[in-house]
Amino acid sequence: MSDLAALQRETLAAIESASDEAALEAVRVGALGKKGSISARLATLGKLSPDERKMHGAAINALKDQVMEALAARRAVLKKAALEAQLEREAQDVTLPVRLPGVGTGRIHPLTQVMEEIVAIFAEMGFCVAEGPDIESDDYNFTKLNFPPGHPARDMHDTFFLRPDAHGERKVLRTHTSPVQVRTMLTQKPPIRIICPGRTYRTDFDQTHTPMFHQVEGLVVDQSSTLANLKWVLEAFCKAFFEAPHIGMRFRPSFFPFTSPSMEVDIQCRRSGGDIRFGEGDDWLEILGCGMVHPNVLTNCGTDPEVYQGFAWGMGADRLAMLKYGLPDLRDFFDADLRWIDHYGFKPLEVPTLAGGLSG
Ligand code: DAH
Repeated sequence: MSDLAALQRETLAAIESASDEAALEAVRVGALGKKGSISARLATLGKLSPDERKMHGAAINALKDQVMEALAARRAVLKKAALEAQLEREAQDVTLPVRLPGVGTGRIHPLTQVMEEIVAIFAEMGFCVAEGPDIESDDYNFTKLNFPPGHPARDMHDTFFLRPDAHGERKVLRTHTSPVQVRTMLTQKPPIRIICPGRTYRTDFDQTHTPMFHQVEGLVVDQSSTLANLKWVLEAFCKAFFEAPHIGMRFRPSFFPFTSPSMEVDIQCRRSGGDIRFGEGDDWLEILGCGMVHPNVLTNCGTDPEVYQGFAWGMGADRLAMLKYGLPDLRDFFDADLRWIDHYGFKPLEVPTLAGGLSG
């Protein structure tokens, strides 16, 4: 019987020292599994005499019961310990301060901000956004817009020309967003109400000019659009954009080949020191060109000028950004200086809307 006592000691000690449920299971299988030490003892009972069987059987079964109880008790202890360890591991200190994610520290470029503001304002008025390529044909950039070949107005555009292609066609980097007017009229029937924000290019470089800059074109074509509508749209835009209830505006006669009559628009402002305020003062700042679409342009784009008329405008988005946010040098826009963007940039999640405020 002494070996049964040794087996009891060994098995109970193994149960007690099992450090996790897998180790405990291994002990169980070693003792009570098909080939386990206790199962083996039980299997020998059949070969004993009835008296011996009675005596040994009771002892082995008692050991089996004791081992099963010890296993259950140890299992409960291990389960509880595992749960406590998991709770400890996954504990969250809800009183810790919030750590800003990366997005909180990035900044939106003032120009992106201004483009989004402009789109938000005109979208509210019912305009769609149209787009065209930066590399444009001479035909769309000039000829269809009523700049005949050799016309002196072409020279005012300081154009970047590409090398002639296999057919001898010389493409240009578009000098304005007006070719998107052409593309739109060639593919859509009036009524048309679009704006075209985008990049434009001219060989020019100083404090207020960079070779790549940005414009937002506007075009309305239908049977009854008038100069009065144009003025209202531009006034409504300026009030919304500069976030002022009244903006003094001046429409000056001007010349563009693709509009007739043509005008340039100035807004009233006051400059003091480095500061500029809109809607008051005796200074005027030019912000855009506009006019009624020239009948030749309508004809060139397949729109009958006897039936339809339209108005258009084009404004410099970089210039609007400089004015609104007091940015003195356009060249800084494209220097990719992190200190500049940290100072002048906008919070990324504050999307400009008319209802929620344009500039946050
Ligand atoms: N395309 C002109 C420029 O870049 C701006 C412009 C003026 C656009 C009058 C227009 C317009 O649509 O009607 O100087």
